[in-house]
Amino acid sequence: MSKTLAALLGGAAGAVALVGILALCIWFCLSRSRTLSRTSDSGSSEPSSVQAGASVGGVELPLTGAASLPSQSREARSFTLPELALATNNFTHINSIGEGKFGEVYMGLLQDGMIVAIKKRANVPTEEFVVEVRYLSSIRHRNLVSLLGYCQENGQQMLVYEYIPSGSISSHLYGAGQVSNEKLEFKHRLPIALGAAKGLAHLHALSPPLVHKNFKTANVLVDENFIAKVADAGLRNLVGRVGVAGTSSGRADDIFLAPEVTEFGRFSERSDAYSFGVFLLELVSGQEAVQPCSSESDRTLVQWVQNYSESSNISAIVDRRMGGNFTAEGMQEFLLLTAQCLNSSSQRRPTMNFIVSELERILEREVSLTTIMGESTPTVTLGSHLFTSSK
Ligand SMILES: *[C@@H]1O[C@H](CO)[C@@H](O)[C@H](O)[C@H]1NC(C)=O
Ligand SMILES: *[C@@H]1O[C@H](CO)[C@@H](O)[C@H](O)[C@H]1NC(C)=O
Ligand SMILES: *[C@@H]1O[C@H](CO)[C@@H](O)[C@H](O)[C@H]1NC(C)=O
Ligand SMILES: *[C@@H]1O[C@H](CO)[C@@H](O)[C@H](O)[C@H]1NC(C)=O
Ligand SMILES: *[C@@H]1O[C@H](CO)[C@@H](O)[C@H](O)[C@H]1NC(C)=O
Repeated sequence: MSKTLAALLGGAAGAVALVGILALCIWFCLSRSRTLSRTSDSGSSEPSSVQAGASVGGVELPLTGAASLPSQSREARSFTLPELALATNNFTHINSIGEGKFGEVYMGLLQDGMIVAIKKRANVPTEEFVVEVRYLSSIRHRNLVSLLGYCQENGQQMLVYEYIPSGSISSHLYGAGQVSNEKLEFKHRLPIALGAAKGLAHLHALSPPLVHKNFKTANVLVDENFIAKVADAGLRNLVGRVGVAGTSSGRADDIFLAPEVTEFGRFSERSDAYSFGVFLLELVSGQEAVQPCSSESDRTLVQWVQNYSESSNISAIVDRRMGGNFTAEGMQEFLLLTAQCLNSSSQRRPTMNFIVSELERILEREVSLTTIMGESTPTVTLGSHLFTSSK
């Protein structure tokens, strides 16, 4: 009697152990594949904002890969109007955070505690809208702002995005929201450039490639850890295809468009690379690229960089707020890369993958040359290596 009981207990314990081991194996495999995707798309392992089921080597994993992580579902969610009205206090102006190509943008708090950004416009509901939103929602990457879902009700179309707390890089560099005493050193601007480049590179690696078509500094957002997230990927397609009148951009936006786009409307991965070059220029100069170059008022910043050579006087363009805390070599390489992106011939521009690897290299070198080994924050002044703007 006690023997059979012992055997039974033993069997049960064995079964429990087996299940436990299996669960461990599954957990291990899952977390391993997640770690892999994390390091391959970011090259670093900051714990924050790792997107579920991202990509391995730029290749999209099938949807099933995200099934184990319900909080980060890649399915476009269909929101109801009352749900979004509740989240935004009935779309009051207090919740309004701006106006974009698609329409008014509101910040909202969902019932589950998630903070979202909602873009809203008046338009008749269409099936095409849903199809496009489903596609765009399936694209997830730590350097892209995720589209979570949509709502089509009551003559309104709405897009629901994850909310990115620290706003756009343009507001940090210039413009209304600028924090005047904010210092952003070169080696802190480089990871932002790199993150944005990875976001675009991910879009271009999709099959078929997704051309952003509206890349600009105002569309590079930063989260609370200053990780760059590219917003509005594919939105121009949605606005264009679903058809809404009057989307012509202002002059400040046109400066981001490659010459073949303004002339022939020819968008491509290489036109995104051009727009990215304008972003790099604004990032390093701290000004809008439409501005004339301070020292040579007859040329814009873009023209200055297009004509960049190693003998150029970089103090004419580099943001004084960086206070000379960078190496001249790093800055020269950065400006050279920027000039390559801004080549008027699209074929001469680098691919986003190349830009990612160049920025990685420049960042690594910059950090190693300006950081004392073993310490995390301090920088050393390397005498001749340092460029001083006061010269
Ligand atoms: C929103 O509007 C509805 C009806 O229009 C009203 O019942 C509700 O109290 C409003 N909610 C808020 C937060 O203003
Ligand atoms: C580029 O630089 C050369 C020599 O420095 C100058 O002659 C030329 O006018 C510049 N081109 C533009 C577009 O500024
Ligand atoms: C470089 O530009 C700065 C500011 O635009 C100017 O003060 C300086 O004299 C220039 N240096 C040279 C060598 O031209
Ligand atoms: C330059 O680096 C030094 C040392 O880390 C720092 O004290 C200083 O504030 C930096 N200057 C600017 C303008 O960022
Ligand atoms: C474009 O790239 C080619 C080849 O690298 C170079 O010779 C040319 O000067 C570049 N043009 C501009 C405007 O930068």
